[in-house]
Amino acid sequence: MNANDGQSRGRLPNKVAVITGGGSGIGRASALAFARQGARIVLVDRDADALSSAADAVRAAGSEVLTLAGDVGDEATVTMHAEAALARFGRIDILLAAAGWSTGTSVLDTTLDQWDAVLRTNLTGTFLWSRAVLRAMRESGGGSIILVGSQLAIAGGRANAAYLSTKGAIGSLARSMALDHAADSIRVNVLVPGAIDTPLLQTAFRRRADPDAARAASVARHPLGRLGLPEEVAQAAVFLASDESSFTTGSCLMVDGGWLAA
Ligand SMILES: NC(=O)c1ccc[n+]([C@@H]2O[C@H](COP(=O)([O-])OP(=O)(O)OC[C@H]3O[C@@H](n4cnc5c(N)ncnc54)[C@H](O)[C@@H]3O)[C@@H](O)[C@H]2O)c1
Repeated sequence: MNANDGQSRGRLPNKVAVITGGGSGIGRASALAFARQGARIVLVDRDADALSSAADAVRAAGSEVLTLAGDVGDEATVTMHAEAALARFGRIDILLAAAGWSTGTSVLDTTLDQWDAVLRTNLTGTFLWSRAVLRAMRESGGGSIILVGSQLAIAGGRANAAYLSTKGAIGSLARSMALDHAADSIRVNVLVPGAIDTPLLQTAFRRRADPDAARAASVARHPLGRLGLPEEVAQAAVFLASDESSFTTGSCLMVDGGWLAA
């Protein structure tokens, strides 16, 4: 067996996947799922410790990994990171833009600094990384871009005005890019998770007066009667990343335990 044999199998054979927010939660679980399907992984996150731990897990899954620490909302950083990814792997086939965070505040409780910071990561970071990979994908003949929305941007949610504004805009950005780049064989889709048990959600529960009651209310809101796992979102990401979804673009894939059906 030569060193590449492990990479030539699976649903993402030899693909190069950039995953922002790859240090934690949905991004980390997706990196592992992509690696197990034969992809080579570029992990981007502002948390260097989380990056290093996620990279160890990707290597243990048998894949090559490049880690890039920095802010997805900074244009010069994203340009430098995209160049580093291309220098290492020569191409980018998949982007999962999962970096995101929230303040858990209504408009009246949101400062301009908080508003700008949430938009900078969730929306500008998604724009900057999308732009960087679109250029590379167009040159190499196509690719799959996966953005991450939220069930709350469709169903509504309280005390999360900046976050939900960005998640609503993600759907429009995805459809816009899907139309602009269909002729380049670049597909763009949105994952729409329900409440997924990650550090981001755990932080959101801790902000409430009664975190246990907040968790119980969230569980009850899902017809499947539980929170989702990051690994369950990762499986949907594998589908959107792979050629199995070759006729799917400009669409939203709900991974929400039935939240939006109720
Ligand atoms: N967990 C949920 O219930 C849920 C529901 C709907 C949507 N989402 C979305 O899924 C995505 C992933 O969320 P998660 O729950 O896995 O969160 P998480 O907190 O576990 O992981 C997010 C990662 O993004 C990184 N990050 C944040 N800002 C960054 C920046 N400016 N530059 C680089 N890295 C940055 C963090 O360091 C962290 O490692 C987010 O876009 C989130 O909005 C999550």
